[in-house]
Amino acid sequence: MRKFLFLFCAAVVAAGSMSLASVANNDVNAAEAVEAVSGVCTVIANPGENAATEVNINWHSPQGKGFDKLYYSPVDVPGTKPHKTKPQKAKASRELCTAFDSMYSKSPAGENIYEYPHFVRNTVSLKKLRPSTLYRYTIAGDTAVRYFRTAPESGPFRAAIISDFHSYSPLPGRQRAAMAMLDTLESINGAPFDLMIHLGDVCAWGGSYSFWKNLYEEPHFKNNTWAGLNGNHDNMDRTNKRNTNQFFRNTNAAPLNGYPGEEGVCYFFRYADVLFVVLNSESMRSDEGLARAQEWVQKVVKDNPAKWVVVMEHYQWFFAESGKDSQYPRWCEVFDSLGVDLALGANNHRYASTHPLSGGRVVAPGEGTIYIQTPSADNERGVDIDSLAYNADKIKKRWSEGAHTVGAMIMDVADDEITLTLYDRQGRPIDVTTQKSHR
Ligand SMILES: [Fe+2]
Repeated sequence: MRKFLFLFCAAVVAAGSMSLASVANNDVNAAEAVEAVSGVCTVIANPGENAATEVNINWHSPQGKGFDKLYYSPVDVPGTKPHKTKPQKAKASRELCTAFDSMYSKSPAGENIYEYPHFVRNTVSLKKLRPSTLYRYTIAGDTAVRYFRTAPESGPFRAAIISDFHSYSPLPGRQRAAMAMLDTLESINGAPFDLMIHLGDVCAWGGSYSFWKNLYEEPHFKNNTWAGLNGNHDNMDRTNKRNTNQFFRNTNAAPLNGYPGEEGVCYFFRYADVLFVVLNSESMRSDEGLARAQEWVQKVVKDNPAKWVVVMEHYQWFFAESGKDSQYPRWCEVFDSLGVDLALGANNHRYASTHPLSGGRVVAPGEGTIYIQTPSADNERGVDIDSLAYNADKIKKRWSEGAHTVGAMIMDVADDEITLTLYDRQGRPIDVTTQKSHR
């Protein structure tokens, strides 16, 4: 256990340190950036528990009246019969959000600032939607048109998976690199994806509200349904002293079906034939936290039978620099017993995929869990890999471009197999992993 704790802490420090040494503890010269929210912002569409018919939407708006209604309608597909319905209206649940108040942060010009983003958080849960349908939506008082897609009830779909781009306004190249990577994936796909997935660390400091706000203005966020999770960077503020899952919770409208304290952060949803179970690594650092999460995962998988089970968390399964164990030994017995098909992680900033594993051994596709962790995607915070000194039997492929790593994956779900392909920024396939159905 002592060895494990050491490895765990090393991972957090290695992957999570955002130049904390350079952060002044109490910078009296920091400007007060009273960035009052002046209109609709930080808008995102997330899958509901049944993503074929339910989508949740989060947006933020100024305090006071207005901005509390959303209008949505299916988009007509050329060559098919037009939808006759008028836009439907949904009224938001509203609450004042103070989670981001008085946060030490950075301006785009690199100045030390405090952010005071007072706003109302609005959420709606849209139900009884049509499966496999592109919807457009607008928010009262705002001119922007945004889009989301519902899942098919069953059958094939494709998702993009990205992580670890640490959006940080003084260094806009990070976000640009990640969005260009998504452009590349979308052009390979030949169409927008059915679903976008991120595995955490989308912000350098989740406590810096302006980073979320800027990120969600990207077309990839405005025009897609996103299922994300809480990374250690999303969970932290600049001082690393006010860390909380409230930053993720209040910038998303994930289903509220997680365990106590993790509602809207840990969650599950059904997307076509896949049960996705989403975890918060920050809540599983202790043995007690891990036990609570595992008890919940076991119940969720047993209560929601599905053809495929995919579990996602931020931390890596293996330290890909050497192949050393990280979260793999903490989860493998649970995944074996539940027949989990795919375990997706991130955080290490190095890609790694395994063969199918069961009982600590390599087995045939369809007879074990495949573990994959995404690389970083910001062209800046990547890290090298060394020789594979551990788990050489289990690990199929590792990949990194050093400090300037940019990569992401396409998940192609077919009737009887799931194929995950890692691409580099040029769109070259780096690794292809196929899992077979066993249910
Ligand atoms: Fe990261």
